[in-house]
Amino acid sequence: MAYDFDKLIPRGTTRSAKWANPELLPLWVADMDFESPPAVYEAISARAAHNLYGYDRLPENYFPAVQSWFKTRQGYEVQEDWLVATSGVVGALHLAVQSLTLPGDEVVIQPPVYHPFPRAILNSGRQLVTSPLKRVHEHYEIDFDDLEAQFARRRAKLFILCNPHNPIGKVYSREELKTIGDLALKHGVVVVSDEIHGDLILPGNQLTPFASLGGDYLSNSVIATAPSKTFNLAGLATSNIFIANPVLRDQFARFSEGLGLHGGSLYGFIACEAAYRSGAQWLDELLVYLKANADLVQSFLKAELPEIKADELQGSYLQWVDFGALGLGDEALEALLRDKAKLWVSPGIQFGEGGSGFIRLNLATQRSRLETALTRIKAAVKGQ
Ligand SMILES: Cc1ncc(COP(=O)(O)O)c(C=O)c1O
Repeated sequence: MAYDFDKLIPRGTTRSAKWANPELLPLWVADMDFESPPAVYEAISARAAHNLYGYDRLPENYFPAVQSWFKTRQGYEVQEDWLVATSGVVGALHLAVQSLTLPGDEVVIQPPVYHPFPRAILNSGRQLVTSPLKRVHEHYEIDFDDLEAQFARRRAKLFILCNPHNPIGKVYSREELKTIGDLALKHGVVVVSDEIHGDLILPGNQLTPFASLGGDYLSNSVIATAPSKTFNLAGLATSNIFIANPVLRDQFARFSEGLGLHGGSLYGFIACEAAYRSGAQWLDELLVYLKANADLVQSFLKAELPEIKADELQGSYLQWVDFGALGLGDEALEALLRDKAKLWVSPGIQFGEGGSGFIRLNLATQRSRLETALTRIKAAVKGQ
């Protein structure tokens, strides 16, 4: 390994949101306790040496770096005119909802899902429609009959897909995505595919980017990507939205312009280009490290707390864990983990229907910290 992901990096010295409470070991918000690839620091410090921050254009080789990344890592070729840079995926979801639907229209999501999805819909005066994922043994499946019933509603206009799916860690198969795409086309529903975790595919799994389905599927989609989860750049607020269909793209871009938004930031673009150009080996090693962390969670729980079950983590670094067998209410479960285990975690109910009894753990931390967290969970559960 060329990179040392075991190195402990004190984060309390910065204004890290994740580490805001010094009493608790944080395994909640989705950022990593790892330094970004060295190329990011080199590119940012080289630019900072100039110490003059006027209005900049996109770095000259920004798009070629983006294009080459998606071609080599995800297997599809993005075209330059598809790209709309925005300052974050959550903002882009709000823009998509507001630019591609009308007030009162319905937007479909699949809970349990990333909690800003419903917010993007409700903040915009649109109607939230859910098609909950079906829990089957220890994983989730799409209830396609229900999904079709929701898409068939007269005012259903948009579907927000999360692939890999936060918080359950599932990577959808090509067949599942094609079925979603077919239903969406049949009922005139645009697919917004949030693929922010799309580079974080654990060994043994494969991402099918929605855009790689091509043809009508591609024309009926908005693809949200960003380097922020992959390379730990969330503070730099930069994302790349791909919209192949010129009509949808025009609606989205005009709406954004109408709000006076420009999208992205100087350092975000510099970091994104550097990471996409030089970060592949770092990412490969990160994925091996994250897989070992996920394996540790599985083996620890099986040996020490077999009543608590972790879903198989296929993509992202967000581990979905079923504490339901403890029979605690959600508040009591969160309190146990906070007050007894001294951990800051994401309660499952935050992610909507189906989340009760679950906890989401962020595994993108040093192994020693994860071991501490697991040991504390065991002590808290056994000591109840
Ligand atoms: C599915 C998903 N989309 C979007 C985001 C946040 O994106 P951004 O920070 O670019 O707004 C996250 C962060 O955890 C996420 O999990």
